[in-house]
Amino acid sequence: MKVLGISFSYRHGNSQALVEHILKGAKDAGAETELIRFCDLEVKNCKGCGFCKAPGNDTCSIKDDMQDLYKKIDAADALVFGAPVYFGRMNAPAYTFIDRLYAKLNPDFSLRISGGKKMAVAVTCGGGPEEDMENINKYLTTVGGFFGWESKGLICGNGLMEKDAVLKCGDKLKEAEKLGKSLTE
Ligand SMILES: Cc1cc2nc3c(=O)[nH]c(=O)nc-3n(C[C@H](O)[C@H](O)[C@H](O)COP(=O)(O)O)c2cc1C
Repeated sequence: MKVLGISFSYRHGNSQALVEHILKGAKDAGAETELIRFCDLEVKNCKGCGFCKAPGNDTCSIKDDMQDLYKKIDAADALVFGAPVYFGRMNAPAYTFIDRLYAKLNPDFSLRISGGKKMAVAVTCGGGPEEDMENINKYLTTVGGFFGWESKGLICGNGLMEKDAVLKCGDKLKEAEKLGKSLTE
């Protein structure tokens, strides 16, 4: 099975580290894993142009790195999303990613990519309310609902202002690996 991790933070920080440990758990359980750093890709915002919903079209009109990412998502059996909390919600690149997924829904909201995927979420913040991270998970689960992705869990890391702070939280990393293993079951 293939597990694709997508990290939305610009820095190689806490949310990415949690995604990496989720992927480690999946890999140790026999999965093939890949990490994508979304901010290293060239992906433009959805223009709402309607091209993807016009007869005969099945993808986005924007020819950028999202086209390759669509293929990787299609091929994956499980998806792992990692995002930092910025002003109480996900950082902006995560929304760019989500909006561009619209091109993989038919006009009747049936799927243009393979279904039956599992998903896991990792969110980190500097000290805000836990509710912010739970809301992000709820939102990603709602988005995943459009694609039939089955949520297997959330790892929240709070109090993680410094870039590598989560690496000192051994229990959190173990929890992430356990979640990764659950994606293979
Ligand atoms: C622009 C910006 C906004 C932030 N807003 C919040 C916030 O609303 N609540 C919070 O607890 N932390 C906030 N933080 C701190 C980050 O969520 C925290 O450092 C997180 O662990 C960063 O994840 P990363 O290490 O994966 O980049 C903010 C950081 C930045 C740069």
